[in-house]
Amino acid sequence: MFSQDDLKRAVAKAAIEYVPVDSIVGVGTGSTANFFIDELAKIKHKIRAAVASSEASAKRLQGHGIEVLSLNDAGDIPVYVDGADEITRHLHMVKGGGGALTREKIVAASSKKFICVCDASKLVDVLGNFPLPIEVIPMARSYIAREVVKLGGRPKLREGFTTDNGNIILDVHDLQIMNPVELEAALNQLAGVVTNGLFARHGADVLLLGMPDGVKTMTA
Ligand code: A5P
Repeated sequence: MFSQDDLKRAVAKAAIEYVPVDSIVGVGTGSTANFFIDELAKIKHKIRAAVASSEASAKRLQGHGIEVLSLNDAGDIPVYVDGADEITRHLHMVKGGGGALTREKIVAASSKKFICVCDASKLVDVLGNFPLPIEVIPMARSYIAREVVKLGGRPKLREGFTTDNGNIILDVHDLQIMNPVELEAALNQLAGVVTNGLFARHGADVLLLGMPDGVKTMTA
């Protein structure tokens, strides 16, 4: 019987195949990304460095002796490897369960290819069952919450949590996201929103999905 961690480890291993020799690797955040970091450590002599999407991932990379560059010093990155909280067959994602969505979106945007690594539980038909995180400038909290209610969502402040960028997170419940590209853009238009956790306009390029009978590869 495979545990969820076994499936995460399997996709993390599979993602190593996508890392070009001598490259700077974009690294995501979360428990699946952590497995990827541990796999990356095994081939650290074959890569140049990494760019991390969170302080937590940077620490783990450095703990393995992998050099972590700031994005501004890295230039274009060939691959970014990260997990997701939900993903569809179109490779649209909800991310930000760990609160690192803004840096994740920035590093992903600077990368040529997004390789998403997930266990099978993350694949859904419609996004929204997992509350959609929105990173918000603190003074805009109530305003954004009211706007989100108009869009049919039920926002909840993530208590006791501050992002790496010093902002707050509103987790939006009760959404059935039929059109993720449109909703992503609409939320980004609201003054005070730093980033929302929809990765739809730029989704993943490859999904490595951990199933009990092996790793399934899906492309956009
Ligand atoms: C972090 O902010 C998230 O976007 C993660 O990528 C996402 O929560 C997946 O995490 P797990 O791999 O722990 O499920």
